[in-house]
Amino acid sequence: MSRARLAVLVSGRGSNLEALRSACESGLIPADIVLVGSNRPHAPALGLAHDAGIATLASDSRGCGDRAAWDRAFLADVAAFRPDWIVLAGFMRQLDGSALSKWIGRMINIHPSLLPKYPGLGTHRRALEAGEREHGASVHFVTAELDGGPILAQVRMPIQQGDTPDSLGARLLPLEHRLLVASVAFLLRHRVELLRGCIWLEGIPMSEPLQLDEGLALR
Ligand code: GAR
Repeated sequence: MSRARLAVLVSGRGSNLEALRSACESGLIPADIVLVGSNRPHAPALGLAHDAGIATLASDSRGCGDRAAWDRAFLADVAAFRPDWIVLAGFMRQLDGSALSKWIGRMINIHPSLLPKYPGLGTHRRALEAGEREHGASVHFVTAELDGGPILAQVRMPIQQGDTPDSLGARLLPLEHRLLVASVAFLLRHRVELLRGCIWLEGIPMSEPLQLDEGLALR
């Protein structure tokens, strides 16, 4: 199988990027990360990419005025690296629909909640405040709706007595890494298409998201 080309977009620390990078290196993901792009020029994730010898692209989106124009220009620069897939790994910006249209079906995002619950920020706190007994993370196709595109895969974990937003986040993060790696590997090993707002797996519409099991497989 020829290796796919991935662009990874980040805004912060980059632990999900690091999980992807190491999975590409070990062969778990049959792909190369050809670009790490960020809307935050000082994101630590850019330093990780640089140290790993991966091309980087940084453009500050703060104070950019015309949001849609920034999004179009940024994604045009990303497209110049000819990625097969764009993976949002902690990219904290909602992209405009006009800029996204070319990438619908080829762009995924990881989000720290069991979507459709808790899109946006503060997911761990909101899950606790709502008295949830279970929390998790989701990988979904990106659409113009914030954290709202069709969900490919999820990982679940129980909420324990005494959990705080920080303890939940810390327990979830390694599961996020596994979920993102498994999801990208799955996309590259199966025929997964986004058609008429629905995910099709090997020509059959998916009725519910795949779940990550303890053996790191998606089912
Ligand atoms: C992760 O928890 C990711 O799920 C979240 O940002 C964090 C990035 O961490 N993404 C979102 O909230 C997107 N809506 P990282 O920089 O260490 O990968």
